[in-house]
Amino acid sequence: MRILSIETSCDETAIALVEVEISNSSIHAKTMQVELFSQIDIHKEFGGVFPIVAKREHAIHLPILLDRILERHSHEGGNPGVLSLDPRLRGDDTLREQDDILFGKIETILQRESGLFEKTKTLLEKYSIPNIDMIAVTAGPGLEPALWVGISFAKALSLYWNIPVIGTNHMKGHIFSVLLNQTQIEFPSLAFLMSGGHTELVELNSISEFKIIGKTKDDAIGESYDKVARMIGLEYPGGPKIAELASQARHSGLGSGPITLPRPMLHSPDLDFSFSGLKTAVLYKTREFEFLDDTIKLHIAHEFEQAVADVILYKLKKALAQKNYKSLIVSGGVIANSYLRERLKALAHDQDIPLLLPQVSDSTDNAQMIAVAGAIESLAEKPLINKDIRAQGNLQY
Ligand code: KG4
Ligand code: ZN
Repeated sequence: MRILSIETSCDETAIALVEVEISNSSIHAKTMQVELFSQIDIHKEFGGVFPIVAKREHAIHLPILLDRILERHSHEGGNPGVLSLDPRLRGDDTLREQDDILFGKIETILQRESGLFEKTKTLLEKYSIPNIDMIAVTAGPGLEPALWVGISFAKALSLYWNIPVIGTNHMKGHIFSVLLNQTQIEFPSLAFLMSGGHTELVELNSISEFKIIGKTKDDAIGESYDKVARMIGLEYPGGPKIAELASQARHSGLGSGPITLPRPMLHSPDLDFSFSGLKTAVLYKTREFEFLDDTIKLHIAHEFEQAVADVILYKLKKALAQKNYKSLIVSGGVIANSYLRERLKALAHDQDIPLLLPQVSDSTDNAQMIAVAGAIESLAEKPLINKDIRAQGNLQY
């Protein structure tokens, strides 16, 4: 099945075209085209993501990204669909009337997204109906104003092309991002998600059975990377920048120097996490210095990343000891981090468990993972489809 997927839950505007084949025991996903606009440079000046700005940027960039996809894929023997958009038929009055009715409905769907209707109409008139079986769109969790843009856009395309649209869970997207470079997950599987908004341990007994067995009580790991980065004067998003400094400190032998930070929650009896204490500890450390020179920043970044890695490994080891898991999945934006990847590989080797990681390019928010999650979701008894899809900021599994 060929899926057009749309992701607008936060600050990445993304559309992908992915071929997904699901058989009894395996999934083959082939990414055909990926288009992504990162709003990072726009949000930088606010020091974080501003929902209304994110919404505005999604509305600007979705038609631009879709144009690039349709340019390559709308002429490959598109579906006949309800309307043939062959320009020769444009003179046909019945088709014109049908078109006008559809565009009237689409205008209503897109009325809250400024300027999006006109651009979408232009695109729909420009290209023939693409060869797509389904549209998948992120319904949550995420920023609701941002989610709505993607959902409304998806509904408009779905109506005009007469193709079903399915609402997808962003976190399931992260979990199933590992199926973009692997074909199987052995169950029961332990999935550890670490992104900007979430840090959670999820037990997966099948592709449709999810149980959260541990989570952060306060900050998510990505969020604490970003906050610590801001404390030492690095730009948003700080995760990759802290990782870079930590790596420099590691490879130059500078290490943590005089900086020591706590490893929170190692002694808690459960599988929960807490990162706000670690962040506050960094804040107190920075106050001990009149001026944060480059060397101190390297030490802080190194010690912070070391503390995060130690806590993650400890908790994963504990979770793995509780059940006979057949595989370990680690995903979410923070898994773009190469040091954490190395530490996790060592743990998996130690514990003799297959480790499933997404490719680095599929780790941070993207649309290709939404296509895979959408394909899986379409097998559900009651998938969230068509008109029923709405933005759910706190969508659960
Ligand atoms: O999954 P994601 O792209 O967006 C959310 O769903 O939140 O994750 C973004 C988070 C940000 O906090 C970012 O700083 C962090 O992932 N991140 C990293 C790295 N790359 C992205 N954190 C540590 N090291 C990295 N290399
Ligand atoms: Zn994400």
